Amino acid sequence: MFNFMHNISSYDDTVKDFSWKIAEEELGYKPGDVINIGEYCTDRICRNGKAYKLALIWQGHKGEVKKYTFNDMRILTNSIAGYMKNLGITPGERVCLFMDKVPELYLGFLAGLKLGAIVQPLFSAFGSESLITRLEDAKTSAIITQKKHLPKVRNIMKDMDYMKYVIVVDETDPTHLREREYILDIENMEMLDKFDIYPSTAETPSVLHYTSGTTGKPKGAQHVHYSVISQYITSKYSLDLKEQDIYWCTADPGWVTGTSYGIIGPWANGVTQCVMDAGFTAENWYSFIERHRVTVWYSAPTAIRALMKEGEAAIKRHDLSSLRYLASIGEPLNAEAVLWSEKVFGMKFHDTYWQTETGSMVVSNYPCMKVKPGSMGKPFPGMEVGLVDIKTHKYFDKKGVVGVIAVRPGWPAMFRAYWNNPDKYNEKFVDGWYLCGDRASIDEDGYFWFVGRDDDVINTAGHLVGPFEIESALLEHPAVAESAAVGKPDQINMEVVKAFVALKPGFEESKMLELEIMNFIRKKLSPLAMPQEVEFVDSLPKTRSGKIMRRVLRAKEWGEEIGDISTLENDM
Ligand code: WT7
Repeated sequence: MFNFMHNISSYDDTVKDFSWKIAEEELGYKPGDVINIGEYCTDRICRNGKAYKLALIWQGHKGEVKKYTFNDMRILTNSIAGYMKNLGITPGERVCLFMDKVPELYLGFLAGLKLGAIVQPLFSAFGSESLITRLEDAKTSAIITQKKHLPKVRNIMKDMDYMKYVIVVDETDPTHLREREYILDIENMEMLDKFDIYPSTAETPSVLHYTSGTTGKPKGAQHVHYSVISQYITSKYSLDLKEQDIYWCTADPGWVTGTSYGIIGPWANGVTQCVMDAGFTAENWYSFIERHRVTVWYSAPTAIRALMKEGEAAIKRHDLSSLRYLASIGEPLNAEAVLWSEKVFGMKFHDTYWQTETGSMVVSNYPCMKVKPGSMGKPFPGMEVGLVDIKTHKYFDKKGVVGVIAVRPGWPAMFRAYWNNPDKYNEKFVDGWYLCGDRASIDEDGYFWFVGRDDDVINTAGHLVGPFEIESALLEHPAVAESAAVGKPDQINMEVVKAFVALKPGFEESKMLELEIMNFIRKKLSPLAMPQEVEFVDSLPKTRSGKIMRRVLRAKEWGEEIGDISTLENDM
């Protein structure tokens, strides 16, 4: 019998009575205890009498399905952890997961944590250059990957003397392997009922997620095992996850949504999750919901807009009556999308707002709270979230005035460092606030309204792409003298990358050259970072000190006011 009561019945009462202790007690954690996310998501659930409940329903791109109970997950993660330990991987070492959404990705993630390793998931569409930037920074010792992605890894192996183990999950023939390459075959490996789980405590490093900023290389946001406290309780209160749910988070674990809410939060709640390792089409997605009777669905605005474009006919062909709660993350969720979902699914998408650095939801809508379409909702209970002035970074408390979103540090899932980069980490904290780098306003009722980013980072289809990374890669192309990358509006992806390029003498602009440059970036970085348009220019707008003013280029793309250009050196 399904319990139709929401996990919280009043937002205001929950805020009043909230303490992280509630989550600690529900999870059986006391300060100072051993706490290991791998154990919390598998062994602990088994001990609670759910060993034979389904943990994972996985569907591959041919429609094939594999199912794993929490006991299967427990034993498989033990076995993989044991395998890695035998190879020689030790606690604290970085283990990269570089796979499509295959079961080994989910198992490897939890197994790495059981071993005490720091897991570093990277999006499998990354090209060699995106890969090496992040592996180099983390000095990663092991990478778990699939045969299909091996060429990208092999391409950079000679430059990675720190990389000791390349573990391939679907290679069956050892004669194909090269030096430092190993096979991990979960179907035929030795199963370990017991594994000596690493006795991590609250502050032991757990996950390293790379995220892009405006300047410099991507930064590794380092999280700790204690984060599970936040991820558990936000999944329960905001996603409303319950015992009987079949939950589907559409995000890839290469990004933080796919780990915080596609692995840790739901499994710490003992909830059954579905994973689909196949590309997006409306037909695929609706069939998947129908086939597995998905009840709670956490997705992203880009996907929702793509579904809107497909129209209602596709929905009518399927029985989607299992759905009961919808939530969204990653980019602004337009009011239009919320109203559409109410019309076609009979329920609204609930927007949530957070970041790689925050590790768990910061602002969100709750099932018990009125949704104002277009608003991100209200702060998660126990979190103090406000605004600081855009220029002075001083806290203010005025309704309807735009400022930068700021959170009072101290929530369990907050990142604890940028890997190797204490200066960048410290820059994020001003006057006792963590600054999110996004602009918003707060209305009379305390609802947050997103305005835009406070920097030049491009959010394409919910993924952050750093302009500097693209520009650096562009400069490696023989024809490019100077470049600037900005976001331009796009109906589905909200923003796509546009590159402005000044050519070196002797090169002529042409459609061919544009395509060549686009492809060059796709291969080096990723399809997300690939410019959808290259505009050839004679020169780029710069400040007197020589910094490219992306803001000027961006404003033109969006048809916005250019703003203060008193520091502009050359005329456009
Ligand atoms: C940035 C964080 C956390 C998971 C996904 C992305 C933007 C996120 C919203 C929202 C408007 C949003 C912000 C934020 N963003 N959620 N509901 N409305 N913008 O994690 O890659 O670290 O990106 O995504 O700009 O800072 P991320």
